[in-house]
Amino acid sequence: MKIIGTGSCLPERIVTNQDLAEIMDTSDEWISTRTGIRKRHIATEETTTSMSVVAAKRALEDAGVKPEELDLIIAATVSSDQIIPMLSAQVQAEIGADNAVAFDINAACSGFLFDMAIADAYMKAGGSKKALLIGAETLSKLMDWNDRSSCVLFGDGAGAVVVSDEEDCVLGMVQGAKGKDGMVLSCVNRNTSNPFSGKEPAPLSYVHMEGQAVYKFAVKTVPAAINEALEQAGVAADEVSYYILHQANLRIIESVAKRLDQPMEKFPTNIQDCGNISAASVPILLDKVCKDGMIKARDKIVLAGFGAGLTWGACVLSW
Ligand code: UT7
Repeated sequence: MKIIGTGSCLPERIVTNQDLAEIMDTSDEWISTRTGIRKRHIATEETTTSMSVVAAKRALEDAGVKPEELDLIIAATVSSDQIIPMLSAQVQAEIGADNAVAFDINAACSGFLFDMAIADAYMKAGGSKKALLIGAETLSKLMDWNDRSSCVLFGDGAGAVVVSDEEDCVLGMVQGAKGKDGMVLSCVNRNTSNPFSGKEPAPLSYVHMEGQAVYKFAVKTVPAAINEALEQAGVAADEVSYYILHQANLRIIESVAKRLDQPMEKFPTNIQDCGNISAASVPILLDKVCKDGMIKARDKIVLAGFGAGLTWGACVLSW
């Protein structure tokens, strides 16, 4: 599998830390020193579907691929506009990718890495030649805007890549899950009763995060996952040009860089401008890095994600 095109879409409305400080008890100083975040894009008119469609069209154009050439669409999201029809099917309809199989996955902030793993397995099994992989979120609708410890961290957006089976550029790929620790980052947000349960409907719940527990999980698990993928690939950390990590906290990225003994220059970031966009953060950052012309042919690139589940994923690519 090879990535042959990237695209992304962010909502127009930008909300700064100062904007948040005007509606809740927080400050630019607290948010930026603890997380690196200065602003985020928040959907007002846009939806998870509309942003995915724009990102998908941009990725297709970048790849020079027509929608009808796609045989597979996988969308990673925890915040699709509705449960069914799912996001991938909505995108399929909007872009006219009539020959594609379409389904969604939920592996939270690791979702795009799981997209990659599934598409690679499809291609290695001969089941796909050209696929569209999406990571998209409207997390602003899953936030408790009265909980300052979580709502300031997240943003909205969509990223997409087109992959092809023309070349095998995947050198290493690992994923994992640890459900027994999963409740440190949760969001139920579903009706929990029916007429036969004898229970009153519980109020809708929003994202709840035990930040320090997730932080400790991330700084331990991400370097281990990257090292495992590098070992699988037979690539040394020093040989990697860029590490494109899920953007959850600048301090987590700095800690991963330190543990891998790699300079921060190899870790591009957009968390300052976008916050944490869960499954969308890796493809959005990858698109920026590509459009900025930072990656050269044959560069070794690491992608890594981690988050709710708890889940994690990392892959090593030869570009
Ligand atoms: O993508 C999914 C993966 N998610 C992550 O990787 C997130 C990982 N965790 C983190 O990034 C950090 O734990 C946070 C940024 C979420 C929090 O940073 P922290 O240093 O762990 O802060 P804390 O939760 O221990 O809170 C410290 C203080 C508390 O006040 P007291 O009890 O010390 O008086 C909070 O009430 O900061 C207070 N606080 C705030 N103050 C101003 C919490 N949120 C805010 C806020 N503004 N927005």
